[in-house]
Amino acid sequence: MKQKFSKNIIADEDAYYMSCPEKVAEHLAKQLSQFKTAVELCTAVGITAIQLAKIMEKVIAVDKDDTRIVNAKKNAKLYAVENKIEFIAGNVLDKNLLKNLSAEIAVLDPDWSVTGTEKSVHVTTLDDTQPSLRKMFELTKKYITPNIVIRIPNTFTFETLSVLGPCKIENIIWGGKTKFKFAYYLNNIKNNDEANFSFDL
Ligand SMILES: C[S@@+](CC[C@H](N)C(=O)[O-])C[C@H]1O[C@@H](n2cnc3c(N)ncnc32)[C@H](O)[C@@H]1O
Repeated sequence: MKQKFSKNIIADEDAYYMSCPEKVAEHLAKQLSQFKTAVELCTAVGITAIQLAKIMEKVIAVDKDDTRIVNAKKNAKLYAVENKIEFIAGNVLDKNLLKNLSAEIAVLDPDWSVTGTEKSVHVTTLDDTQPSLRKMFELTKKYITPNIVIRIPNTFTFETLSVLGPCKIENIIWGGKTKFKFAYYLNNIKNNDEANFSFDL
């Protein structure tokens, strides 16, 4: 992947680093094309929400960082999907916020870096992501939808995820290496399953 984004997106350095590469977000959106509405919890500067909005009717995107939400709105304009996304500055663990969100599919994408280390050092448990993926998953399932996709680091395995139920893990590979993974928790997935998705450099 030569270029992370096809447009000159606006992002602070950390958000740029943590954001999902555009081609991968586009691929994820295609995998979820049976859904018409989505919520993205932890959107940063909006990259995944933007790709979802390209194929869905409505997307809600939440991040606790006010500046990132401002930049996400500008980025949505760059991709001409600003009218399809509602951006909210808020805490994704806030029950009162989640209760008022409605969507058919939820994408959860917390920060996986180990606090106080290089961004490239990743946590190994659901509770250590920021915020906790275990809590995000429980609240999303309770208040929004049971159809959930989570973006997870390489360090996570089926064992790491077992408390959340069966899922399909998709290894996202480029340059011959798995860079991160998606875990899909959709109604039709009854057993653990695994697939690879490779990009050319
Ligand atoms: C990995 S980035 C998200 C990348 C984005 N989903 C994308 O597709 O490019 C994680 C984001 O989680 C946000 N975040 C961390 N804790 C949060 C919380 N409690 N509520 C809302 N957002 C939070 C951070 O501000 C950061 O922007």
